[in-house]
Amino acid sequence: MRVIKPRTQFEGEFTLPGDKSVTHRALMLNAVSRGEAIVTNALTGEDSLSTARCMRELGAKIEQDGTTFRVVGRQELLSEKTLDCGNSATTMRLLTGLLSGKGVKAKLYGDKSLSSRPMARVAEPLSLLGAKIKTSSGKPPVELFPVNLIGVDVRLEISSAQVKSAVLLAGVSAEGETRVSEPIKSRDHTERMLKNMGADLRVEGNTVTVKKSSLNAVDVEVPADISSATYFMALGALKGKTLCKNVGVNATRTGILRAFDKLGVKYSLLNRRICSGEDIADILVEKSNLKGIELDGADVPSMIDELPLIALLCAFADGESHIRGAQELKIKESDRISATAELINGLGGACIPTEDGFIIQGKKTLLGGEVNSRFDHRIAMTGAVALLASKNGGVIHGAESCAVSFPNFFENLEV
Ligand code: S3P
Repeated sequence: MRVIKPRTQFEGEFTLPGDKSVTHRALMLNAVSRGEAIVTNALTGEDSLSTARCMRELGAKIEQDGTTFRVVGRQELLSEKTLDCGNSATTMRLLTGLLSGKGVKAKLYGDKSLSSRPMARVAEPLSLLGAKIKTSSGKPPVELFPVNLIGVDVRLEISSAQVKSAVLLAGVSAEGETRVSEPIKSRDHTERMLKNMGADLRVEGNTVTVKKSSLNAVDVEVPADISSATYFMALGALKGKTLCKNVGVNATRTGILRAFDKLGVKYSLLNRRICSGEDIADILVEKSNLKGIELDGADVPSMIDELPLIALLCAFADGESHIRGAQELKIKESDRISATAELINGLGGACIPTEDGFIIQGKKTLLGGEVNSRFDHRIAMTGAVALLASKNGGVIHGAESCAVSFPNFFENLEV
């Protein structure tokens, strides 16, 4: 349990931890590439350490010194392994794709939360390439059996970067050409990194085509994670002024900024540049009067992990907000539709959970009280912002779950 006192003012400059999605990919892909690579500013949260652990188990050499990892690639992985993916669906889904093409017999399992998450969404498209995958009624553990894959056309019905990446990572080892398309473009870090590593890959709109390729290790300087920066950006908008440094602003991740435009949040991107194939900027956010917004399914993929926090900002806005087309939130680390509505209502706000999102009556303020994180890192961090910005503050149960994606979250908040 962690006590959070309310703050009338919140100002400062923040350097947030490395991007979780980019760190997973930098460790996983370099571990199966030719040569060695240095990954700097990597996230050292529990999720990325799960990926590092699995890749070491598979025979890659990965040394860690703080946020720097030295990865020595190994193209032939060890052939029979049982791998613990912890809480990390990204580790499990991406590995399912990668290992199906690598001739590895493996069993992937995870913690209680991961054990309840859907894996048929990767097993089914991969089986189109010929992969032999067994799940427990669509859930972990996931068992993989060695086969040779053949490239095909895969059309995904949902936009999911994890599923798209699983198909692409299998496609790199499949004979011929593998094509994957999705309804709305999801985060594209896998495509960018595979291309930097020499894969024969092309992107046309929402379709990515990859041919059988061998990969060369590349150094990666990981940008700060916009999903972690979001909490500090929100505190700037609610309580003062914040500057988040070196944040990844890849357009497939910046839905939060489009939500800010609608909410009326004052922000600017400074010092824009490119780093390891990703767009980076410093993000300055200032105290703003927020108004109610509408978001729909087309907005969702680029802000999927930020939606609990966006719903919270709607509770601090003037007017009603509708968030639709976000049913994917129900199958994250917790049911984030129900957890977010419970959080807002528990602190004195008014949020109706719907089948695919929220209806939020903005009251410009929250009283405070108790937050149940449901051991979901994004709910715990959204709760911390809510309590800091509330009238009376309160407590978070399960606050330690932040360590999944943001190990020093509370130290950064100075609470
Ligand atoms: C991720 C993709 C998203 C996101 C998750 C990380 C990734 O999941 O919610 O935190 O790194 O590919 P989905 O692919 O399920 O949308």
